[in-house]
Amino acid sequence: MSEKAIVLSTTARKQLRHYHSATQLRADTWHRLEQYTSKLADRHARKADIAKFSKAVEDAFSILEPMETYTAFPSLSDFELLWKLYHREDYPALARVVARIVRALSSHTYRRYHIDLNAEMSQEEDDNQLSDPTGSQVNVRPYFELLVVDDINRAEIARLRQGLRDMRRPEDKFIYDLVVVPSFEDALIATLFNHNIQACVIRYGFPFRSVHQLDILQRLLSQFDDHEAEEQPDSDRGPLLGRMIADLRPELDLYLVTDVAVEEIAGDVTQFFRRIFYRQEDYLELHLSILRGVALRYETPFFSALRKYSRQPTGVFHALPISRGKSVTKSHWIRDMVDFYGISIFLAETSATSGGLDSLLQPHGPIKKAQQLAARAFGAKQTFFSTNGTSTSNKIVVQALVRPRDIVLVDRDCHKSHHYGMMLSGAHVSYLDSYPLDEYSMYGAVPLEEIKKRLLHFRSIGELHRVKMLLLTNCTFDGVVYNVERVMEECLAIKPDLIFLWDEAWFAFACCTPTYRMRTAMGASKRLQNRYRTDEYRKKYKAYSNKIARLDPKDTEALLNLELMPDPDLVRIRAYATHSTHKTLTSLRQGSMMHVYDQDFHKVEAAFHEAFMTHTSTSPNYQILASLDVGRRQVELEGYELVQKQLELAMALRERVAKNPLLSKYFTILLAKDMVPAQYRKSGIDAYYDPDTGWRNTNMEEAWSQDDFVVDPSRLTLYVGKTGIDGDTFKNEYLMDKYGIQINKTSRNTVLFMTNIGTTRSSVAYLIGVLVKIAAEIEENMETMSSAERKIHDKKVQGLTHDLPPLPDFSHFHPAFCPDGKPESLNGDIRKAYFLAYDEEQYEYLRIDDGSIEAEQARGREVVSSSFVIPYPPGFPILVPGQVISADILEFMRALDVKEIHGYREELGLSVFTEEAMAQLVAKPGVASLEEEIAKLEAKVATLTEPEVVAKAK
Ligand SMILES: Cc1ncc(COP(=O)(O)O)c(C=O)c1O
Repeated sequence: MSEKAIVLSTTARKQLRHYHSATQLRADTWHRLEQYTSKLADRHARKADIAKFSKAVEDAFSILEPMETYTAFPSLSDFELLWKLYHREDYPALARVVARIVRALSSHTYRRYHIDLNAEMSQEEDDNQLSDPTGSQVNVRPYFELLVVDDINRAEIARLRQGLRDMRRPEDKFIYDLVVVPSFEDALIATLFNHNIQACVIRYGFPFRSVHQLDILQRLLSQFDDHEAEEQPDSDRGPLLGRMIADLRPELDLYLVTDVAVEEIAGDVTQFFRRIFYRQEDYLELHLSILRGVALRYETPFFSALRKYSRQPTGVFHALPISRGKSVTKSHWIRDMVDFYGISIFLAETSATSGGLDSLLQPHGPIKKAQQLAARAFGAKQTFFSTNGTSTSNKIVVQALVRPRDIVLVDRDCHKSHHYGMMLSGAHVSYLDSYPLDEYSMYGAVPLEEIKKRLLHFRSIGELHRVKMLLLTNCTFDGVVYNVERVMEECLAIKPDLIFLWDEAWFAFACCTPTYRMRTAMGASKRLQNRYRTDEYRKKYKAYSNKIARLDPKDTEALLNLELMPDPDLVRIRAYATHSTHKTLTSLRQGSMMHVYDQDFHKVEAAFHEAFMTHTSTSPNYQILASLDVGRRQVELEGYELVQKQLELAMALRERVAKNPLLSKYFTILLAKDMVPAQYRKSGIDAYYDPDTGWRNTNMEEAWSQDDFVVDPSRLTLYVGKTGIDGDTFKNEYLMDKYGIQINKTSRNTVLFMTNIGTTRSSVAYLIGVLVKIAAEIEENMETMSSAERKIHDKKVQGLTHDLPPLPDFSHFHPAFCPDGKPESLNGDIRKAYFLAYDEEQYEYLRIDDGSIEAEQARGREVVSSSFVIPYPPGFPILVPGQVISADILEFMRALDVKEIHGYREELGLSVFTEEAMAQLVAKPGVASLEEEIAKLEAKVATLTEPEVVAKAK
């Protein structure tokens, strides 16, 4: 390897600044290098061009050389060959070798072959080899790279590589190559940069600093506070490095090779290593351990069981005629179904729960194992699969944990499944309002202050013991993400056994990278539990409790301004997360998971089981279950890579819209500052991208580590207000009808584009192309408008950019649905209202467009909704049963120009409870709900002593 310091030309330095990701820089630089070397190889190249392209080649080498020290292909000696050819001015050979490398990298053939760049190969031979996936040289086994951290010389590296190569056996399931790095920093860079790494061997002493100074790689290190490691002697760094790698990529298998007695290594770090070797020289043991580690992640118990089952001959003498395709293949009329799906799906259709398969309702075999593996992958203590979407998972979790009359704090704009869940469980709901983004007709998320205020309110009215759960959406449809750790911490300080249900329907992928992971329910729960165990926390808590003892507990303002800390002796971490695996990871539609991190799960396990039974079909779809199992494998083996790539593409999309003059004239992609008000961004970071300075992933990390709310940059909210076209029309008439682009969420003046792990560079390019066409069409229309048309257009733009109706807050429940008839208690019995509306006599319809509701209100009547009213968009209920209709809500409804409003019948109006129904309930508040009566009696009984109970019973 060349020892040259990196001296880049101004152009190259400018180019570098714009890169968010080192991976993208690597790919682009190789492609550029291919162009430069082919220019150099041109026999007719002019002298001036030779000079120009030589400098460009050197720049590219200087960027790539340090990068390639973290990858197995091209190797260090491959790079030496490039320099040799360059110095020899053998440009044609150089161009050929570079082209081979580029092809091998972009087609991933280096995973299947050993690519010998020294071998002279004609273009044709090379093409044949590269494009022949069935050739005898081909390795069809999955490939990965092993990171070895050891400060050893070239000869020793070669010996190690050969030693491990010699261990290969034909029956090995995987094949791997080696990347050896010499320092602590290099190991961290390699872990973050090289997606192929699946296992890491940390050997004897190694220095701290990396010798490479490439800024984009150094930036990867900026997230670490690694003072501790720097100060340690070289020989002690291994365990700490293991802990840090485990934090970054917990899926990797770590092996420690040590020359001190294993017992001398601090107990708590050994948990991060799959195995600790003492002066490992036995290559076979190491090799087998490495393969076994990866095999454990590769394993898919249920998918494999289903595949095996589908190959067995069986006779079906029960239901499911489609099983084994029998009813289809025999048919004269529906055989095209087999043509379309292939036979395997039918072979795997069975209702058997034995013979190697398992029952979702009572799993003991492969489903149980698959769920355990999923728990490991997502950082949960337990995981449960669901085959009916997160809509069902949400209901299961709520029903398992909440009893009638328990209070649940719920963000009002959460998914409708929660509102139905509240109704089913009989919870008393206390709705929390998210901060509104009136300008874009969408909500953000619930500020921590609101949540604390509500909990303190319940404490002040003596009802905190009834508060069971806080239910929030993380992240929201639009990508607003909570500071989960802080929310949990401060709420637990007020109520140490509070249960959290984090609806992460849109956030399953977040477990795959460290920045995202820190804002997931499971990630935060683990950190909190670890923190409360430490002496350091106890010390801090002691100082804090002295401070808080001096405060008046009724001084809400003071408590709101303080960062509250839970008592480590009382706190229980009880968090649940629901994932629509199918939304962001590989899974068939409806595949969903419930993840549990509950220190008291043993207390609710039976109830959880019952709730699971209540909502789960006795015929769960096996294809969905198998896809959840496979999706989990993918998370553990390539989730990190896929999410990084997704992010890169999302960033590229943002950049293209911001930089294209025509696009930026009509469209804007909203930034963190647009979606999160300044008071919730302590970091002061407005955006992760700046058109002048490029992408700053350090910005993202900084904001994500401290702000109250952040925006998931993989979701892109495109503001279309300036086009004069509303979100719904833009979606249907422009994106869908004209260009076949599917999106899901719109607001009045925005459309949401979501990238996912399946997004490709070409799909991003297609979208950009479509946006350019739409912008050009609008531009063309504008130029040919008459003045009257222009006025209409301007009015539309004005309507979409200025005159937006403010989003309404939750009004309140009618006293008839509140405990003791008091709406100021801020919780209501949604179930009572829901079932009251089963009786036709109890409700009537009032129109919103003829002033009839206002007329009733003017008479002093509280007009109460008897149903859910859910407009799409925004897709959450603006009215729930029992809620009083306010002027703000009416104004908002009238301003809505969407066609789809569930629970609202345009010809009839809103369904509201009759005045008599309300009057009757208020007059006899006690009898309307049997549960309320029972709960009151129970509370009374609880205050009696045993002899008193016996006496009363007599
Ligand atoms: C926040 C949220 N939770 C839950 C769900 C329901 O998920 P599923 O479609 O998997 O039933 C959705 C669906 O869009 C959602 O947006």
